[in-house]
Amino acid sequence: MADNQKTYTLTNDETGVSVKLPVRESIQGPPAIDVSALYKEAGVFTYDPGFMSTASCKSKITFIQGEVGILEYRGYPIEQLAANGDFLETAYLLLNGELPNEGQLRDFNQLINRHTMLNETLTHFFDGFHYNAHPMAIMVGVVGSLSAFYHDSLDINDPELRRVAAHRLIAKMPTIAAASYKHNVGEPFMYPRNELSYCANLLHMMFATPCEEYEVDPVAEKALNLLFILHADHEQNASTSTVRLAGSSLANPFACIAAGIASLWGPAHGGANEAVLDMLSEIGDVSQIDKYIAKAKDKDDGFRLMGFGHRVYKKYDPRAGIIREVCHEVLEKLADANNPMFELAQRLEEIALNDEYFIERKLYPNVDFYSGIIYRALGIPNNMFTVMFAIARTVGWVAHWLEMMDDPRQKIGRPRQIYKGYARRDYVPLSDR
Ligand code: CMC
Repeated sequence: MADNQKTYTLTNDETGVSVKLPVRESIQGPPAIDVSALYKEAGVFTYDPGFMSTASCKSKITFIQGEVGILEYRGYPIEQLAANGDFLETAYLLLNGELPNEGQLRDFNQLINRHTMLNETLTHFFDGFHYNAHPMAIMVGVVGSLSAFYHDSLDINDPELRRVAAHRLIAKMPTIAAASYKHNVGEPFMYPRNELSYCANLLHMMFATPCEEYEVDPVAEKALNLLFILHADHEQNASTSTVRLAGSSLANPFACIAAGIASLWGPAHGGANEAVLDMLSEIGDVSQIDKYIAKAKDKDDGFRLMGFGHRVYKKYDPRAGIIREVCHEVLEKLADANNPMFELAQRLEEIALNDEYFIERKLYPNVDFYSGIIYRALGIPNNMFTVMFAIARTVGWVAHWLEMMDDPRQKIGRPRQIYKGYARRDYVPLSDR
């Protein structure tokens, strides 16, 4: 250990034996005690269910300071990216660390556009799903199946091929997502149109039919672009950590992203956007809010206020603030200004934020609270909300996977446990049990 290395000392109160643990500094945010040698030196593990106090890796991609509501991608505040940026520009930033210049952005757009089509055989895969399969179930299966089609980008030891796989994933997610929607509604799949922007192309593939011309509404395209920027990354959340853990065994990137999609689907994570709209429909009317607030506070009732609370944010989620503002604008432009769901959501937020239970626990609206209201105004059905989240988050997932694969310290992720089962005992023959 270097002389000026900051340390923490851990002492066994029974034996008096101490170990010095080095401190790893962050550029911003709290430092971390490096416990990687603790078991070797002291014969004990650390125990931290839910990773409440554990940093699982070093990363240069995204910074969050939850106590004050700060979110930055590669150092740029989310508010600035949301106000000025474009989704693929943000994707370039997250993947490469710098904002692209004009030429780099043009090339990146072309690169992604060139990979939007699916292998035609893969489109038959959808026939195996029942017509009413949840689109997230289709996403998990079809994205995982990409590894059976794109063998030429599966060599994870080749940094160039890792990039090709990353670009394929970003490019093909909207095509797969739109196809899962079309499968649900029984309409023919639409091929991508590469002259359209990333978000316009997605809207085209979802809502165009071969029967008539379809023009993408610029209001919808702009709103989707903004939501995708806000969802693109969020450091070591559950799905990103899932992608990293799957990738740590050197699994192929398509399989890793399928694992990330599965993790995102849960209602405590990305599935919350769908759950919020289900909750608002169930509440139905402002007069019922008090009843549901009481249910959310009742520990014997499993009900939680969906779209509220966050492991990291102990202040308003900056993404929720931006989305709430944009809700007003989008709903007005789409002539849906008196959207009853938006009114209900705003009233629910107001009541919760003035309630001692939510104040004490620092529970604020998160990114999922208002996003579904915009998606619904764009004509996107509830069961597609988490799919939208997955499309945008694919950028973060692949950025983290690339970062991990480039890290010389990367090791297979293998947590330990505190064993609480039976001590060793002898097998009892069936006749004696
Ligand atoms: N409604 C009612 N009570 C809540 C809620 C909620 N939404 N969220 C947290 N609490 C309470 C919880 O019961 C606990 O109370 P107590 O201290 O009395 O036991 C306290 O607040 C702390 O909650 P926790 O569950 O220990 O916190 P966590 O960091 O483990 O969980 C969370 C974070 C997001 C899973 C949780 O807040 C939650 O379930 N929220 C609703 C689902 C949701 O909106 N998820 C989206 C998260 S943001 C986007 C994303 O990740 O995709």
